[in-house]
Amino acid sequence: MAFTYFFRDLQALEMIRIHVVPVLRSYRYIRIWDAGCAMGPEPYSLAIILRENMAAAFGNVRIYATDIDESGRFGDIIREGVYSKDQVKRIPKQIFQKYFKQDGMAGYFRISEEIRGCVQYHRHDLLSLNPIRTDLGLILCKNVLLHFTEAQRIDVIRMFYGALREAGFFVTEQTQKMPQELSHLFKPVVPNAQVFRKV
Ligand SMILES: C[S@@+](CC[C@H](N)C(=O)[O-])C[C@H]1O[C@@H](n2cnc3c(N)ncnc32)[C@H](O)[C@@H]1O
Repeated sequence: MAFTYFFRDLQALEMIRIHVVPVLRSYRYIRIWDAGCAMGPEPYSLAIILRENMAAAFGNVRIYATDIDESGRFGDIIREGVYSKDQVKRIPKQIFQKYFKQDGMAGYFRISEEIRGCVQYHRHDLLSLNPIRTDLGLILCKNVLLHFTEAQRIDVIRMFYGALREAGFFVTEQTQKMPQELSHLFKPVVPNAQVFRKV
């Protein structure tokens, strides 16, 4: 269930860089929800992309990373920010060298404090249908909705709609489709990727 690694979905990160970052950059407070973040590689990959592409506006970024976290261990892992060679091996070399340092144990690397500082972890069950906030510029929810029934997916995406600020973005995985019942709430940003904008 918690399978994940850094830069897992390059296409989604690229879509965010091209279509979402230019809008977020103009906000005074840039609030992002990574829903179903597992043990951190996804919110930290996103934070690195934002750090690379937002210049000074990166100082306004706060990523709320949440997960149901059945093990109860994700909070400690994310706060520590230490990951194995296997989890970091797909990070482009230049980025890796810039944001990671060898940690005490051989084969383990710690992400920089600046990147750790913008990610805040909370334990949260999406099926509670309680949004963590209602002023979010971007919600990223990848490889999570596929574990839910169609009815649960509809409820959760409707909850995301309420959690987004005006014209906020929702990004999910390529294989996930927007349920027909909700298509009036979001418009696709590009025809061939699951990047949507609140109507
Ligand atoms: C396959 S991982 C995906 C991790 C990351 N989003 C990615 O794409 O690399 C699925 C995650 O969804 C979380 N999850 C499953 N059910 C959930 C729920 N009801 N609420 C919040 N998170 C949930 C699991 O704990 C797991 O960490």
